[in-house]
Amino acid sequence: MIINDKLMKRYFLIFTFVVFVQKIETLDFCEETFSYFTDYKITNNDSILINAVRSTQACGSVCLTTSDCCAVSYINNSRECYLDTSGSCNLPKVPFEGSMVMIRQTVLPKDCEDVSDGNGTYRINPSYCSGPFNDFNVYCEVGSDNQYWTVFQRRVDGLTDFYRTWLEYENGFGDLTNEFWLGNEKIHMLTSNNNYTLRIELENFANEKRYAEYQTFKISDAQSEFQLSVNGYSGNAGDSLDYHNGIVFSTKDRDNSPSSKACAVRFHGAWWYNSCHQSNLNGNYLSGSHISFGDGIEWLTWTGHYYSLKSSKMMIRRQNGN
Ligand SMILES: *[C@@H]1O[C@H](CO)[C@@H](O)[C@H](O)[C@H]1NC(C)=O
Ligand SMILES: *[C@@H]1O[C@H](CO)[C@@H](O)[C@H](O)[C@H]1NC(C)=O
Ligand SMILES: *[C@@H]1O[C@H](CO)[C@@H](O)[C@H](O)[C@H]1NC(C)=O
Ligand SMILES: *[C@@H]1O[C@H](CO)[C@@H](O)[C@H](O)[C@H]1NC(C)=O
Repeated sequence: MIINDKLMKRYFLIFTFVVFVQKIETLDFCEETFSYFTDYKITNNDSILINAVRSTQACGSVCLTTSDCCAVSYINNSRECYLDTSGSCNLPKVPFEGSMVMIRQTVLPKDCEDVSDGNGTYRINPSYCSGPFNDFNVYCEVGSDNQYWTVFQRRVDGLTDFYRTWLEYENGFGDLTNEFWLGNEKIHMLTSNNNYTLRIELENFANEKRYAEYQTFKISDAQSEFQLSVNGYSGNAGDSLDYHNGIVFSTKDRDNSPSSKACAVRFHGAWWYNSCHQSNLNGNYLSGSHISFGDGIEWLTWTGHYYSLKSSKMMIRRQNGN
């Protein structure tokens, strides 16, 4: 009996150790989001206890990947890691030798779903890790469904130039409260940490509105040229994005389209050009009907290739159940 118990314990220790080693390696740099108090522990009856954690860093890493965790307490001798998920981050600390309390300095929202103060600009951190690029501002909008959406593209009046370079599309440009592109790197960061639904809202100059929603949406990283993955259309604007599924991004200075037509230059935009497009929401603001072919703000299945829309908005929220 006793031997069995010991074996079980040893097995458990080895097992948890291996799990944490794997997590630490990818998350070590997240440490810096904590402030430290040595020789203190937190007292909280509701905190989650994880046994056999080998270091304060490992304890912190567990916190960073646990939703709502805002503080941890690590007890050196017993290797116990307590996660505070009460959301208060302000737990009573008591002196306790060999123990350490770590409080997350800024628990920024992951995306707009964690925001609850209405339409506006908010700072978010999709990965919860600090460092350049990891936190940035976004525009959050409360949709007609009462859900919070993270907006990454908006056209309203044509006063912002959208005929821009690869680097500008990568980093983003414009004014979050008006016309802008959030930036491919940021859209990638958002959509690589959770599963997202995309909603596109369009309006013509007769003030009619249509939308297209895609159950899943993500774009890959810069190395793989921000390749689009989109799937599961619903809506009343028709599906003009499926044609671009699996295609990488193109700009005027970096045309990756599988066509020989230099699509971004020809259609005066930046998009996941195939050969070439059924939608061109970063195209020229041509204000309604135009005689040139396909270079306006187009959505083929609603207004065709000779009509440039009045407004367009692209936004995401976490998939149901995430
Ligand atoms: C925590 O638990 C102890 C023992 O169960 C209890 O006496 C104490 O009142 C609790 N403290 C709080 C803050 O709930
Ligand atoms: C925890 O224990 C290690 C090894 O015994 C020691 O080096 C370290 O300083 C201790 N940390 C704290 C916070 O006491
Ligand atoms: C948020 O913005 C949307 C789009 O402009 C608007 O329809 C909605 O009424 C706004 N909601 C609030 C609470 O201001
Ligand atoms: C995203 O969806 C995939 C496939 O449905 C699922 O396996 C995965 O766990 C989901 N990711 C998250 C973070 O929920």
